[in-house]
Amino acid sequence: MAEIGKDIARAKELLEQGELVAIPTETVYGLAGNALDLNAILKIFKVKNRPHFDPLIVHVGSLDQARDLVESIPAKAEKLAQLFWPGPLTLLLKRKSVIPDLITSGMDTVGIRCPDHQLTQSLLQSLAFPLAAPSANPFGYVSPTSAAHVNDQLGPQLDYILDGGECRVGLESTIIGFENDKPIIYRLGGFSVELIEKTIGSVSIQLNTSSNPKAPGQLKSHYSPSKKVVIGNLTELVKEHASKKFGIIAFSERIEGIASDQQRVLSPNGSLDEAAQHLFAALRELDKRKIEIILAEPVPDIGIGKAINDRLNRASAE
Ligand code: TXA
Ligand code: MG
Repeated sequence: MAEIGKDIARAKELLEQGELVAIPTETVYGLAGNALDLNAILKIFKVKNRPHFDPLIVHVGSLDQARDLVESIPAKAEKLAQLFWPGPLTLLLKRKSVIPDLITSGMDTVGIRCPDHQLTQSLLQSLAFPLAAPSANPFGYVSPTSAAHVNDQLGPQLDYILDGGECRVGLESTIIGFENDKPIIYRLGGFSVELIEKTIGSVSIQLNTSSNPKAPGQLKSHYSPSKKVVIGNLTELVKEHASKKFGIIAFSERIEGIASDQQRVLSPNGSLDEAAQHLFAALRELDKRKIEIILAEPVPDIGIGKAINDRLNRASAE
């Protein structure tokens, strides 16, 4: 199993040697390596068992560090970065040739993100290179929101996990790109569509599934636990699946008459932020239990609720 700690100097040393380190961010934990080192990048794909057609996000400590990696920054992207970085927003920008083909799967844009987590910020400030970091889970599985989640699955293949506690946002970053300066959201995430539109005007959303080469990681079935997940009205689902052993993920209210260890309530106060923060841990916990199926209900489809519903739908796709 990996060593878990808060030692930035140790993380830095390993990364400088071309090794991988799991890092905390405000969204989910990342599996980080030197984004300019081909061997480190290859290790990331290998450890995650990730297909090479799925590009990696590059993490920087500031907007100025991003400037060295991209040809240009459209005005709307610049505005978003100025206002909201560090934060859960990834910008797809035209890459400079320093960014290896392997990072972008050969595409001419690179995803750049400036994570809002104090430990990882300190680490990025201390390094002479940016960090490539996909979520620190095997390809296709639920992203990790704690050091223990990372250790559970990737521990045997990792030397060090930088422990920054439970992730504050709990869902991956929102990904936005620009075609002829027109903004397009490719992945719903921790940064709300509403706030983006308030800042730069209307955006289109292209959450394409398997046929969209622009966001290959947006496969229809993704972020999935190994158990079958069904989404709908919980009272009805409970009746329908009465003969099975099920677990429940409810938004704010528990279902009467069901044992409490069988259900997870994401936010008793009905807070979408809190629900987002707890969703992946709930999926992971229920996935470990002796149940056959996970029943879940959609949350209100506003703000980060859109991203929660997106992840639930992907988790339930066959
Ligand atoms: O919150 C996050 O973004 C986390 C933390 C660790 O930063 N990272 C993350 O990375 O979610 P990953 O690799 O699990 O998901 C990145 C997604 C994939 O769906 C990938 O296809 C897409 O971003 N992506 C990356 N670069 C891209 C590019 N140049 N064009 C289109 N999609 C890209
Ligand atoms: Mg991922």
